[in-house]
Amino acid sequence: MMKSTLSVRPAWAEINLDHIAHNIGLFRKQIGPVTGVMAVVKADGYGHGARKVAETALQAGASSLAVAFVDEAVDLRQAGIKAPINILGYTDPSLFAKVIQYNLSPTIFGLDTAEQFSVQARQHNVVLPVHIKVDTGMGRVGLLPEEALEVITRIALLDGLKIEGLFTHLAAAEESDKSYTAEQLLLFNRILDGCLERGIPFPLIHAANSAAALNHPTSRFNIIRLGLSMYGYYPAPEMQEIEPKLKPALSFKSRVILVKKVPAGRAISYGCTYHTSRESLIATIPVGYADGYSRLLSNKGQVLIRGCRVPVVGTICMDQMMVDVTDVPGVCLGDEVVLYGRQGGEEIKVEEAAELIGTINYELLCAVSKRVPRYYFKDNKLSSISDIFDQESVCSD
Ligand SMILES: Cc1ncc(COP(=O)(O)O)c(C=O)c1O
Repeated sequence: MMKSTLSVRPAWAEINLDHIAHNIGLFRKQIGPVTGVMAVVKADGYGHGARKVAETALQAGASSLAVAFVDEAVDLRQAGIKAPINILGYTDPSLFAKVIQYNLSPTIFGLDTAEQFSVQARQHNVVLPVHIKVDTGMGRVGLLPEEALEVITRIALLDGLKIEGLFTHLAAAEESDKSYTAEQLLLFNRILDGCLERGIPFPLIHAANSAAALNHPTSRFNIIRLGLSMYGYYPAPEMQEIEPKLKPALSFKSRVILVKKVPAGRAISYGCTYHTSRESLIATIPVGYADGYSRLLSNKGQVLIRGCRVPVVGTICMDQMMVDVTDVPGVCLGDEVVLYGRQGGEEIKVEEAAELIGTINYELLCAVSKRVPRYYFKDNKLSSISDIFDQESVCSD
């Protein structure tokens, strides 16, 4: 049974694992049977919980996982996950022992790093699988096109390393002007062909993030790195209308903990940035910026109560915020509040909140903080709750 009273913290995120499986299924259909899916579960699975998302993604047809740094991967191994894990960010050679112990594949984008890994691999008589990254226009990590062929050729000669993959990251794949991505892919293909001509094969070749997987079929090579869209979101507002129709996995919810009749002309919250213009019913919600509901939404955001949109009034505090429920009949203690998600026929998309404050859905999803318990739904029912104050509990019927 769902814990629904105010005896548990009335602020939680519901994660619909069926939706994640559904989204992967849609991509699987679109990319065909031979292209793999690397499920990107960094940043605690974009706020959804990396362990649960990883398990779900693998069951739904992902072939491997990707995280940003070693400790994120170690956490997945400690949860018993055996699938290949690619570390997308920088892995310092001093982490060699951990990388080997947990059977991880670091990304290499420098000869020095490759040599240091190679020396240690030979000393320990092991072979380290690595992915090589080239920077075809993201301007972040990766070998520049002008150096890539030479450096990769030298890395390929190093003992103790097995080059498992070649990849790049696309900087503008969500844009309707496809020219920048086309240029990046041209450069990537040139480097790839150059390597193949030199007899350097790559079992895995990858370039596509969510936007590219949707917008640029030629970027898919033999595996896509699927992040945001696996969670059910589109990488840019203008992509919302395109197929396939993804299902968002996260809803952010709370409950009314107080409803107060306040006379006209009263200030609400820090800084007195809001004054009631009439006698008002003000409800307090026990969610604040420490829970990941941005303070920038003060006097801007809306939430759903009793199926109606109500405005956030006053400054959002660390642990609480206020909304004006004067126009919604019957609001009372314990009523469900939806910050992101659906209630009745209404929906507040995370994109709507992101647009109000000039950011992106990625950031708001990752921001939902650890102190917000995650309620996992699987096979249409609550399957477990993950709460940093109460570890994890499994729910039975
Ligand atoms: C290197 C790399 N690949 C893939 C992804 C996944 O991107 P998306 O979430 O847009 O699918 C990311 C995410 O930032 C990334 O940094």
